[in-house]
Amino acid sequence: MTAIIPPLPADLNDGLKRLKMAAMRQLAPELLITAKTQRWNPEEFLRTLIEAEIASRDASNIRTRMRQASFPVTKTLDEFDIAASSIPPATFDYLASLEWIRAAENVCLIGPAGTGKSHTLIGLGIAAVEHGHRVRYFTAAELVETLYRGLADNSVGKLIDSLLRNDLVLVDELGFAPLDDTGAQLLFRFVAASYERRSLGIASHWPFESWGRFLPEHTTAVSMLDRLLHHCHTVVTNGDSYRMRQARTTGGTRPKTS
Ligand SMILES: Nc1ncnc2c1ncn2[C@@H]1O[C@H](COP(=O)(O)OP(=O)(O)OP(=O)(O)O)[C@@H](O)[C@H]1O
Ligand SMILES: [Mg+2]
Repeated sequence: MTAIIPPLPADLNDGLKRLKMAAMRQLAPELLITAKTQRWNPEEFLRTLIEAEIASRDASNIRTRMRQASFPVTKTLDEFDIAASSIPPATFDYLASLEWIRAAENVCLIGPAGTGKSHTLIGLGIAAVEHGHRVRYFTAAELVETLYRGLADNSVGKLIDSLLRNDLVLVDELGFAPLDDTGAQLLFRFVAASYERRSLGIASHWPFESWGRFLPEHTTAVSMLDRLLHHCHTVVTNGDSYRMRQARTTGGTRPKTS
């Protein structure tokens, strides 16, 4: 038979409700019984309640920041098989330490399809959220589209400021599609505004010397790279596509190219 737990006295319940101490309010009735039967020291009782409230708020803040980050999928650093990647373990460990975010430095992942760029980027983003940072993930196309919308009502500056309230902005798939002049200028404005203020995490197929392929004006590519690379950890991912390797080991076949 389970003991019936008496509800909290109404004044305590209302007080905790008003103070928005939801976890304390939920835990208190049962904890009062435990504390009485086990003759807890009052300090211990208070500590347990406070710790429960803090843990619940931390978890709720992480959930909110995780939602705001808009990760397209969940990929964690723990799931990343470093041995199967070309990223040196020491580099991976340094990136996973998130020190570069505290120093407002950038990370650029450069490599061909399926070599773990997005996985690493998202894994770093999720780790950053779990450590209390604010993060926002975009594909380059989404970021440029968002900035484009600001052109209509002259709010690009405000938009960029609000994006830079994040500690880390991730820009994936840079160069998948070429940018027009305006798109390139908008991206440049964003990179210039973040320079030495916030961390950017960029992933691209294209080595830096080929960025002129998707940035129409040579000077934009040069000025953007100059700022991006000043305080940057560049990681080259190469080798076979992990997707193809998995497809082969699970009995799949390469897609036909003709
Ligand atoms: N080293 C790895 N360990 C575990 N999973 C990996 C690894 N590398 C890649 N993967 C997995 O392989 C798939 C492709 O990786 P990912 O999306 O990161 O590639 P990408 O480099 O971003 O490719 P693209 O340039 O096409 O966007 C994902 O499901 C990812 O989780
Ligand atoms: Mg990718």
